[in-house]
Amino acid sequence: KEAAGKSEIIFIAVGTPPKENGEADLTHVEAVAMGIARYMTSYHLVVEKSTTPVETGMWIKRTLEANARKGVKFDVASNPEFLREGSAIEDFMHPDRIVIGVESKRAKDTLLELYRPLGAEIIVTNINSAEIIKHASNSFLATKISFINAVANICEKAGADIEEVARGMGFDKRIGRAFLNAGIGFGGFCFPKDIEAFIHISDKLGYDFELLKAVKRINEEQRAVLIGKIEKVVWNIKGKTIAVLGLAFKPNTDDMRFAPAVEIIERLIGEGAVIKAYDPQSMERARAIPGLKNVKFCRGPYDAVKGAECAVILTEWNEFKELDLKKVKKLLKQPVIVDGRNIYDPKKMKELGFRYHCIGRASS
Ligand code: UDX
Repeated sequence: KEAAGKSEIIFIAVGTPPKENGEADLTHVEAVAMGIARYMTSYHLVVEKSTTPVETGMWIKRTLEANARKGVKFDVASNPEFLREGSAIEDFMHPDRIVIGVESKRAKDTLLELYRPLGAEIIVTNINSAEIIKHASNSFLATKISFINAVANICEKAGADIEEVARGMGFDKRIGRAFLNAGIGFGGFCFPKDIEAFIHISDKLGYDFELLKAVKRINEEQRAVLIGKIEKVVWNIKGKTIAVLGLAFKPNTDDMRFAPAVEIIERLIGEGAVIKAYDPQSMERARAIPGLKNVKFCRGPYDAVKGAECAVILTEWNEFKELDLKKVKKLLKQPVIVDGRNIYDPKKMKELGFRYHCIGRASS
């Protein structure tokens, strides 16, 4: 009540969790729009910041119109956020671009003035375009990841090296090296959810977004690719102790939501493996996940690899890049590392006497 009464600009930044069918649940957005409508006494610019399907702006507008006091004016705008977990402040202060979707000059001028101090490129569009920019951007980044993972699978068969291929592709300015890291696929609370939502929105609008469905499928298959590699080195998984290094969906966060590690560990446990795991930040959250309840969480990476049949890298933490590999070799039952994030140099691993299996590069 206090915020809606006094402020000039109101950002809606509530969660839009996925429903069972992949559609975004917008009940929180509606509830907060109703609240704003009830307590607005003068002009407000209501800005949709949450990641929402196209046409949510229109629904917010309708909700405000239906519930606001008579004579109270407002504008609705869309201003999607592109922050990454672990670097949100840096991303906010130095954005590649700021997107504002507006319907009136007043809304446009207000947001331009608000963001001017950041000195960033500001793209002004209509509300629907701004909403689509968010979905299309995340989906495109996810497409890059699935594309490079598909190429990685071909590289393995062709005797090529995905790291060299990605580097060679990345120098082309039209392509760029970013988001061409092959591995066990993307996770986290944004990409899987946003892709699902974009597929759903497209379906609803009468377009079958087959490309995105393939992106999703390739991403899911990468988990199986890694499990196949583990099977190759330990033979039968049943009864084998496997050390897992890294649980979070990416480094520098403790976030376990939609982390590939969860799915991979659940499958390994399902096949009868004993899992010893270590992650620098996410173990507390991992402990709370029902499927991981039989995991033995370890104090450190060396503790995790001790006596294990092989070590599996699932998150590319710097701590793992700097491990004393000679020590790791001594502690493991067999000198075998399955690296789902390509953090080591295969040549060096061979020199050290490891059997090293990674993604899209020749194994040693
Ligand atoms: C993402 C978007 O980058 C951000 O703009 C949006 O606002 C929210 O979603 P975030 O989920 O924090 O951010 O992480 P990001 O760094 O994009 O990584 C997402 C997933 O992709 C991670 O699981 C990461 O491991 C994976 N990834 C990323 C790859 O597998 N390969 C890559 O080359 C890059």
